[in-house]
Amino acid sequence: MPFSPKSFISKAVHGGEIRRYAPRAKRIRSTPVVGGIDPSIGYIYDDSAHLDDALGGDPNLYVYGRYGNPTVAAFEKAMVELECHDMPERAAECFALATSSGMAAIHLAMAACGVRAGATVAAAQDCYGATYSLVDGLWPQYGVKGVFVDATDLNTVERMLAQDAPTVLIVETISNPLLKIVDIPRLAELCHAYGARLLVDNTFATPMLFRPLVHGVDVVIHSATKYIGGHGDVLGGVVVARNDLRSAFWEYLKKTGGNLGPHEAWLLHRGIKTLPLRMERQCRNACVVAEQLSRHPALAQVRYPGLPEHPQHELAGRLFGYAGYGAVVACELKDAGQEDVFRFLEALQMVQPATTVGDVYSLVLYPSHSSHRALSPAQRAAVGIADGLVRLAVGAEDPEDICADIYAALGS
Ligand SMILES: Cc1ncc(COP(=O)(O)O)c(C=O)c1O
Repeated sequence: MPFSPKSFISKAVHGGEIRRYAPRAKRIRSTPVVGGIDPSIGYIYDDSAHLDDALGGDPNLYVYGRYGNPTVAAFEKAMVELECHDMPERAAECFALATSSGMAAIHLAMAACGVRAGATVAAAQDCYGATYSLVDGLWPQYGVKGVFVDATDLNTVERMLAQDAPTVLIVETISNPLLKIVDIPRLAELCHAYGARLLVDNTFATPMLFRPLVHGVDVVIHSATKYIGGHGDVLGGVVVARNDLRSAFWEYLKKTGGNLGPHEAWLLHRGIKTLPLRMERQCRNACVVAEQLSRHPALAQVRYPGLPEHPQHELAGRLFGYAGYGAVVACELKDAGQEDVFRFLEALQMVQPATTVGDVYSLVLYPSHSSHRALSPAQRAAVGIADGLVRLAVGAEDPEDICADIYAALGS
């Protein structure tokens, strides 16, 4: 019986790897410990019957880079293992498909789940800016109606589902940038009662904190650019879902070509190996930073799901099994407008102002100016993104250094 690791951390280290030992008689080369990159776009076969099997869709055979690639498949397998950690016996019933970015994954999930002219797509009102623009601006150009809902309020969600009958509802496990937590198991029940599919953008939680499939979610989405990669040097996305959706997703990806390349897949797969270590450290750091900043007089508000005063603190603990509360903290500078925020950003020395999250570096972003720039001031106000709000993605440095840099930039 082959050994298969049981714990999440061991699965992160070994997930998706297939070591091919040559039979003893044919030992012409050594087997590397680290999996390689298979860059080939095309494949050759012994004979036409073998090629026919490959073209017929045998998942272990490859014909063309856009249809599948072994390095990408290894990354996808690792993602399935992590997202199915609580139900390993059902991992074979799930698939992952890697995409060129998180937005490509979101678009793929919506389209492959049936969003098309005449349909309605619903999203949590405080979702990531580009997701908001996709639902509010791009889909409507194709005859799709976009609606937004406060996904923390289950009664409002149920009313929306009854009234608008959306094909899909997309929510974020931890919303970007307001860090709201939604009751995903209840949302899944509600969506299914009204015939909608629930798509969960699990980017900020990662499978380390929360694994949506076990809670009845239809499709899990990641911007793998963030915590999965972890080092800010690769753009990618991934969807994970049950096999009954596989052919719709694969056909759509094959035709639209938003695939992930093998070099990026290799980097993301490597990132997964340290995901639990990074997440554990960065979540712990974020707790310290949020705690300390919550007492700072220059800040009107500090939002962090790990703080007892966070409106969904108890829900976050329940959903995430107290494994952590994420590594992002949102702060509102008191009585601050754009100029005050710019001054703060420019005064930071170690914490870098950059439009991303999930790296080992601590990074700060001004949502009104970057991730939510495409929203009108009225839309931002309606969503709750204030002019003084900054999003702090806490990295893996010493939390005392992170706090010292922020305190100095705040002028105290
Ligand atoms: C929660 C969330 N989802 C999706 C995306 C889009 O990911 P990508 O930039 O990889 O397309 C982002 C990017 O910041 C994000 O924060």
